[in-house]
Amino acid sequence: MSQLDSLKKYSLVVADSGDIDAVAKWKPQDATTNPSLLLASAEDPRWRSVVDEAISRASGDPDAATDWLFVLFGREILKHVAGRVSTEVDARLSFDEEGSIAKARKLVSLYDKLGVKRERVLIKLASTWEGIRAAGRLEREGIRCNMTLLFSFAQAAACADAGVTLISPFVGRIYDFYKKLRNVDDIPIEEDPGVASVVRIYNYYKKHDYRTQVMGASFRKVEQILALAGCDLLTIAPDLLQKLNATPGEAERKLSVEEAKRQNLPRVELDEKAFRWEHNQDPMGTDKLAEGIRRFDADARKLGKLMTSLAASSAVPAK
Ligand code: E4P
Repeated sequence: MSQLDSLKKYSLVVADSGDIDAVAKWKPQDATTNPSLLLASAEDPRWRSVVDEAISRASGDPDAATDWLFVLFGREILKHVAGRVSTEVDARLSFDEEGSIAKARKLVSLYDKLGVKRERVLIKLASTWEGIRAAGRLEREGIRCNMTLLFSFAQAAACADAGVTLISPFVGRIYDFYKKLRNVDDIPIEEDPGVASVVRIYNYYKKHDYRTQVMGASFRKVEQILALAGCDLLTIAPDLLQKLNATPGEAERKLSVEEAKRQNLPRVELDEKAFRWEHNQDPMGTDKLAEGIRRFDADARKLGKLMTSLAASSAVPAK
């Protein structure tokens, strides 16, 4: 048995990709996208017809072109997954609760125009205070949310209290931060701070019976994935899916509800002031959240420019 098949006994495997062919190849249960992944897809000549359709449907409105692009890639990806696709809200709205809600509703309405039901979509929002507040309200109107750019325990605790469907704690970017801080090329898996962060969050959620699911994300190596076998979901990039599939072996369960229940993890309740204070106490969390927002915004801007120049050069007829 491959490590991938074995891992599927313990965790729901998700493809972290905007590459429609890769999703079709791996046939995961769900798939996740982000602005950086969709920029890469939009630049790829294989998906030019999707880009052209987005330009055509946007009828000259540059913001609408990016929204349509995200949703059209989501529609294509959904042809190859039985479950859900995650589509991210504009990073520029990370500190705008009302703007995030409006954008989420807009994305869901575009999916609806394509005949895609909201149950098949997870709206990704940055795990800022405003993003978490927006997600809590969206959940109450039946729009399911996936909280991204999640690095600190305070972010995880606040997301659980908001009753969001799913969180995506980032393993690899935490690992990157500490590698750089310690000036080392690697951190052994037993000491990996990204893995430790997800273990703590998972145990905390299960200990207190939160309904929010935990999806480990942003992996740099196979060992990090295998160290989280048993986590509710794991979203994995195609190159790592390939490695897991090519390696025979048995994954061993590392996380379980039973073990979580044995942990001494007191309940934490955070109002806005406490959230901001606790998150700010974590230099890695503050640094990586801020950087993550900047990076997704930069890639979304590049994508917007690409769409504008393609629209100008191709003059695609409006739909
Ligand atoms: C998935 O939801 C995340 O956007 C993704 O895993 C981030 O991965 P990266 O840190 O490799 O960009």
